[in-house]
Amino acid sequence: MSSMNTYTLSNGNKIPVLGFGTWQTPAGDTAKAAVQAALAAGFRHIDTAEMYGNEQSIGEALAESDLPRSELFITSKLDNKFHSYEAATEAIDRSLADLKLEQLDLFLIHWPNPKAFRDENWEEHLQETWRALEDAYHAGKLKAIGVSNFKPKHLQVLEKTQTIQPMVDQIRICPGDFDQETISYCQAHGILLEAYSPFGTGQIFSDPTLQKLAAKKGKTIAQICLRWSLQHGFLPLPKSVHADRIKENTQVFDFELTESEIKQLDDLEGIAGYATDPDTASF
Ligand SMILES: NC(=O)c1ccc[n+]([C@@H]2O[C@H](COP(=O)([O-])OP(=O)(O)OC[C@H]3O[C@@H](n4cnc5c(N)ncnc54)[C@H](OP(=O)(O)O)[C@@H]3O)[C@@H](O)[C@H]2O)c1
Repeated sequence: MSSMNTYTLSNGNKIPVLGFGTWQTPAGDTAKAAVQAALAAGFRHIDTAEMYGNEQSIGEALAESDLPRSELFITSKLDNKFHSYEAATEAIDRSLADLKLEQLDLFLIHWPNPKAFRDENWEEHLQETWRALEDAYHAGKLKAIGVSNFKPKHLQVLEKTQTIQPMVDQIRICPGDFDQETISYCQAHGILLEAYSPFGTGQIFSDPTLQKLAAKKGKTIAQICLRWSLQHGFLPLPKSVHADRIKENTQVFDFELTESEIKQLDDLEGIAGYATDPDTASF
């Protein structure tokens, strides 16, 4: 098993089990070098978003790579400003152009209920936006479509009008922050869970339970967190801009956590904070 191993999405497409995160990775040389280091370390799945502001730099790194396009899995996401059919369609074309790609492997609605659209018609805005993703999927621009930060109530809004069920829900999951209701709902509906912020955006490293377990297993805390995520069947998306850490984050396929070790991590509470509530967030 390696970072090139895959899960299968509900449309039959394969997706590498580990993805490379790029939120807060500055555009320009840093983003380009980070993606180059990730590809060299064995990552084949890159996660970006229009809101990260680094799609063009990532596109340059991809264009300069010798890897065949078919080996790469590239995800982007809709900026919260564009929750309408027309604006979402334009945003998809913009992400494709910025990433210099003919097709995206996965495109997500980044946020279910952005503040700018949080009015009495928010459900219609969301349904219309999803229809734009469905049409881009049928047009062959997007090979898979999904959502991010959606709870069951948001998925149920889509269910009223969707002709394609989201293939992915990308949510915050790390030891201590585990939205069991959303996880169970997605698992029951065949929606793959991508685990963003697998290190709680860097806040997880001082936890004593993780420190002890890492020492016992002869692994780093980062590797323990990723292993925990993978053994739950999630798809973790670790971010780093340092080549040594990027490599470390791929070396998670040569050991296993026992059931009791997993349970010990499941029982942690809020050690790296909690996900933002999508219905009350200030954005
Ligand atoms: N859909 C959404 O709304 C959403 C929200 C948040 C994140 N995401 C996605 O998920 C990805 C990951 O989440 P995240 O960016 O919040 O953070 P994260 O991956 O949980 O943590 C990243 C932090 O940990 C540090 N780090 C990484 N590997 C390390 C290692 N082996 N040892 C020690 N420190 C290490 C990084 O520092 P350095 O970079 O300095 O190495 C950075 O400070 C994002 O980049 C993005 O692609 C999506």
